[in-house]
Amino acid sequence: MEKKILETKVNIFKFKELEPEIQVLITKAKELTKNCYVPYSHFHVGAAILLENGALYFGSNQENAAYPAGICAERVALSYANTEYPDIPVKAVAIAAWSEHDFTERPISPCGICRQTLLEVQRRFDSPIDVYMFGKDQIYHIADVEELLPVAFSLR
Ligand code: THU
Repeated sequence: MEKKILETKVNIFKFKELEPEIQVLITKAKELTKNCYVPYSHFHVGAAILLENGALYFGSNQENAAYPAGICAERVALSYANTEYPDIPVKAVAIAAWSEHDFTERPISPCGICRQTLLEVQRRFDSPIDVYMFGKDQIYHIADVEELLPVAFSLR
């Protein structure tokens, strides 16, 4: 038997330690939590995407009475970006969540389906995506979606 250890490197930042470009992205993700449609969970998620060409794209979670029809903020933003610019890699994504009258204390982390979607975009452009997860106390940064979804599903 062989053993393999898979590592996830998480950089932990305070907001003021981040590059201005990333501060803008996170601020936008926080603002987008006001645009959600969340009558079922009341959990507001905003996602902002920075493309390699500098363009910004946005998403918020949109729920549905038929629960599985709802869509996460990250996938709204990715679909929006890839529709407008199908040939431009995604450089970074920031997510933030608002629940029970405030932003979450702990960094909000993308769900499994969003990780799979982010990974597909990263592999498609062969260009690592920086993921920033906002929490009131600290901001997590993972510099490669492969580390967010180890042993991911793949057809090949
Ligand atoms: N949600 C997101 O928008 N992104 C995630 O990565 C995690 C979950 C949404 C889905 C649902 O509308 C609400 O948060 C509660 O699960």
